[in-house]
Amino acid sequence: MKVLVTGGLGFIGSHTVVELQNEGFEVLVVDNLSNTSLSVLEGIEVITGKIPAFEKLDLRDKDKVQDFFKRHNDISGVIHFAASKAVGESVENPLLYYENNINALVYVLQGLEKKNEASFIFSSSCTVYGQAEKMPITEDASIQTAMSPYGNTKQIGEEIIIDVVKVSNINAILLRYFNPIGAHPSAEIGELPIGVPQNLVPFITQTGLGLRTELSVYGDDYPTPDGTAVRDYIHVVDLAKAHVIALQRLLNKKNLAKVETFNLGTGTGSSVLEVIHTFEKVSGKKLPYKIVDRREGDITSAYANTDKANTVLGWKAKSTLEQALASAWKWEQKIRK
Ligand code: WQD
Repeated sequence: MKVLVTGGLGFIGSHTVVELQNEGFEVLVVDNLSNTSLSVLEGIEVITGKIPAFEKLDLRDKDKVQDFFKRHNDISGVIHFAASKAVGESVENPLLYYENNINALVYVLQGLEKKNEASFIFSSSCTVYGQAEKMPITEDASIQTAMSPYGNTKQIGEEIIIDVVKVSNINAILLRYFNPIGAHPSAEIGELPIGVPQNLVPFITQTGLGLRTELSVYGDDYPTPDGTAVRDYIHVVDLAKAHVIALQRLLNKKNLAKVETFNLGTGTGSSVLEVIHTFEKVSGKKLPYKIVDRREGDITSAYANTDKANTVLGWKAKSTLEQALASAWKWEQKIRK
């Protein structure tokens, strides 16, 4: 059962490869190494005892992708992570995002569309909801106008898949992640943000280690209990396990809908200040921070209604915010040694 994982050396991709190999899947990873490094393969091998097959491949190259699928016609499932994911960068450089997040998706789907059957899992995001009206957010919440080209590529990606499954033998699952954080408990793999981290948790762990002088908290005037924005922070290993379960659901192919959508979160919202205080508790460090203006494009609150993932997928996030932050802190300390 060969499973292709695109972007499989990335943050969520690498953790998913670990869980796939733990479940006995034969994994083939492609990655263009633009936002990761080959050393992640070693981390996966240390954890699972097996190094996955790997090919460096830039999915924006249509001919190379076609050639790849000619050489690998035994792929039964694809988990598609490969994409650019920095919200701010997408605003400055939208065409980079439309090329990388849309063209690459189209070329991968073209590699599958002629197959007798294919299972396709798409890495989507809660960002498609924008600021949802009702918390917790259900999968049938309305899709708002995207707040960024990054978010738009996730919305467009979902729509492309919905159109393609209607006229092909592809069955798909769209996984809408909330805020993935943390690292594998072994600290052999984790998040490798390049440059100044855009996301909260890597910025916090780097500040905790003294690599950053202080954290800027983007606004404390939101209509939330402590004034700071609320998100649903999910441990990346919990997220990875959901991908394996979703793939098994597709491969079992028992009278499935052509495409299903699941929110992947913990179901609990945490504010920025709560994350800071929880980090201080797990690290024993006082975190220097200052309140500054809101960040353009940020929403007040987003946390998942996880009933569908719990009941239909039979999956539930297990790790607490504390455990997730502790794993992020352990990873940060290890990579800076
Ligand atoms: C979380 C909260 C910030 C940094 C985005 C994408 C989403 C996913 C995760 C890819 C917000 C606040 C942050 C900082 C801060 N991306 N913050 N100071 O924006 O919820 O989601 O990243 O998969 O699709 O939309 O995540 O970690 O950037 O921010 O105060 O230095 O932390 O304002 O309230 P976000 P984030």
